[in-house]
Amino acid sequence: MAEIAGAAVDRRSMLAAAGMAGLAVVGTAGRAEARAEPVTSGVSARRFENKVVIITGATSGIGRATALAFAREGAKVGFCGRRTQLGREVEQEIRRAGGEAAYVRADVRREDEVRGFVDRIAGKYGGLDIAFNNAGVNWFVELEQISLEQWNDLMATNVTGVFLAMKYQIPHLLRREGGVIVVTSSVAGTATRPGGSAYAASKRALAGIVQAAALDYGKKNIRTVAIAPGTIRTPIFEVNRPAGMSDEDWEVEIVKWGKANVDALGRIGRPEEVAASVLAAAQPGQSFLTGTEIIVDGGMTAGL
Ligand SMILES: NC(=O)c1ccc[n+]([C@@H]2O[C@H](COP(=O)([O-])OP(=O)(O)OC[C@H]3O[C@@H](n4cnc5c(N)ncnc54)[C@H](OP(=O)(O)O)[C@@H]3O)[C@@H](O)[C@H]2O)c1
Repeated sequence: MAEIAGAAVDRRSMLAAAGMAGLAVVGTAGRAEARAEPVTSGVSARRFENKVVIITGATSGIGRATALAFAREGAKVGFCGRRTQLGREVEQEIRRAGGEAAYVRADVRREDEVRGFVDRIAGKYGGLDIAFNNAGVNWFVELEQISLEQWNDLMATNVTGVFLAMKYQIPHLLRREGGVIVVTSSVAGTATRPGGSAYAASKRALAGIVQAAALDYGKKNIRTVAIAPGTIRTPIFEVNRPAGMSDEDWEVEIVKWGKANVDALGRIGRPEEVAASVLAAAQPGQSFLTGTEIIVDGGMTAGL
């Protein structure tokens, strides 16, 4: 048993959590694995020079990789998360590389903390240009086993947390007369796995928020976009590792799973690859991209 976000989740549920339900590996003989290229911006210019970017949930995983990527391209990055030690480490990593970053401890389930975080970053850097609302939790449990408390907690993070962040970010974007909001959805917004009722419902709710906000603020030059990752190797994914499995066996298992389940590329993704898509969605020149979702899953949902 292991604890994820307060929910008691068995191994099968954990495997499902990152889309690895059953971890059954069948018919992989002869299947190839696509090359993972070094992720670069694809351009030599620093696309976000002096832009202010605010990110929820950048103490690890996709948020951390995206904070580093924005900072590398010239942005001033303000970010939150609850794990102070990791937050400080990401802040230092960005500063050591010559970038600008500020970590604020904030829990996206708490309105006062979200408002304080947003206002502090906007105050420090003189406004906001881009928001990446990424904080999320993930567990898969069969529906009748989910307690109301667990359901409410997941929704408070994955849905209300995004609502609150946008509620307090939008006035700052309006003051700038425009901006971009990217939120992290999931392929679970398109199709799910057993035990996925809470997680899939939360990510599908984000599609509605992104569409409605695009309509509310489109003419005020605020674009809203959802990024929907497939299976990405982050700490959320690492909870799938069976207790006692050696590093070597775990690596073999991951490679097998990628080949069996990600039809197009034959491997799972890296957080830097999702970050590359977030930056592409937020970059200047994407002025017609709004109210929509970009799936970044290595072709997993393309194959049945
Ligand atoms: N990895 C995947 O396969 C995958 C696939 C599709 C979608 N996603 C989505 O990608 C997003 C990032 O996940 P990840 O894979 O990068 O996992 P991760 O490394 O666990 O990142 C989750 C981030 O969210 C933050 N967070 C969680 N609850 C929070 C709260 N109440 N208040 C503030 N921050 C909170 C965490 O920070 P603290 O713990 O420090 O608070 C952490 O920085 C999530 O929305 C997830 O649903 C992931």
